[in-house]
Amino acid sequence: MNHFVRRRGELYCERVPLLRIAQRVGTPAYVYSTATLMRHARVFRAALRGLDMLPCYAVKAAGNLAILRLLSDEGFGFDIVSGGELHRALRAGADPGRIVFSGVGKREDELRAALRAGILQFNCESEEELEQLDAVARSLRRRAPVAIRVNPAVDARTHPYIATALATSKFGVPASRARAAFRRAEELPGLAVVGLACHIGSQIGEVRPFIEAARKMRALFEELRAGGHALRHLDLGGGLGVPYGDGPDPASPEDYGRALARALRALDARILVEPGRLLVANAGVLLTRILVSKRGAGGRRFAVADAGMNDLLRPALYGAYHAVEPVARPRAGSEVVDLVGPVCESADVLAPRRRLPPLESGDLVVLRTAGAYGMSMASQYNGRPRPAEVLVSGARFRVVRRRETVDDLVRGETV
Ligand code: LLP
Repeated sequence: MNHFVRRRGELYCERVPLLRIAQRVGTPAYVYSTATLMRHARVFRAALRGLDMLPCYAVKAAGNLAILRLLSDEGFGFDIVSGGELHRALRAGADPGRIVFSGVGKREDELRAALRAGILQFNCESEEELEQLDAVARSLRRRAPVAIRVNPAVDARTHPYIATALATSKFGVPASRARAAFRRAEELPGLAVVGLACHIGSQIGEVRPFIEAARKMRALFEELRAGGHALRHLDLGGGLGVPYGDGPDPASPEDYGRALARALRALDARILVEPGRLLVANAGVLLTRILVSKRGAGGRRFAVADAGMNDLLRPALYGAYHAVEPVARPRAGSEVVDLVGPVCESADVLAPRRRLPPLESGDLVVLRTAGAYGMSMASQYNGRPRPAEVLVSGARFRVVRRRETVDDLVRGETV
């Protein structure tokens, strides 16, 4: 469900023609729908309403201040993984008491900034990190609220780059060492042990891995509590997938909510979850213009867009599928093309071998479901300023991040 719809053949975001945005703002640009984002936020909350729950949006999915503000106003907390994301969340007006700091390695200055801000919880992923956090907390004469992220060893059956709970993964403390890690944490005077955490991966289509993780984590939580640890928070991470249009539909938020409610019934704990993709993926598209339509050897057709892998990395990095559509009324007929970017890399293919209506230079197209891990993974590779970000609400739109300029490319550099 999203608000990118055709009216009289032409593609709109809510009540704004994407053509108008391209004319005013230029391309490439990320365009987000407020209505879609709000709908996803509410559907997610409603699906989990049976639980004492704090949803912490994973800022890494899309960190624009305007998006963070909308979610913060909806009562979401935030899951951050760096001092930079802490800065974003605070600048957007987030309540520090609803911020969780995840990540397998955190610098001292990042720990310090988060402690000073008074965040809800640090998710630590190793015994050594516990010692580091303890030292920083004591130097500030504070106690850091800490959860330990455990690797529950469940196979989320997703792309290997985004599965995080396999036995070979760098993430978390192995479940076999969890008890020892908790004992160590209790000995450190700068720490206050408050929770247990996990995150099993991303773009997970079935509820089964979530159920397995929730059951294992619940058992461990209860065991730790019985062993004298005053745990209050059980953080189950993010990871529920979205439909990209190239496979079966993933489980719904309702299925996910029901499964968690069942697995966690009557557990006396505050449940934290860290959804990212689910909230923003379908709320955003990448709007781009065809620069050249050319034929390669053997007649292979290429459409070269003004967006490339630096703007949307997912296809090049994961072989990810994003549906492509023209903005204007589609021309009659179809042909198989490679939609590629202008970056000097053979991997710069946005959509390989795609059957599309005939495209010509000057045409506008969108790559759908690009709201999550789109702009947040964009770079300036090949000397390419990053795209503008536009937020649509009803019949109005606003540039919520201006297009970078060539001066932005050299900012901070000296000869
Ligand atoms: N919590 C933690 C600790 C995470 O590492 C992640 C994502 C999330 C929550 C949010 O997961 P989500 O609900 O969005 O699945 N760049 C990849 C995805 C990487 C996910 C990294 N961690 C992609 O474009 O598919």
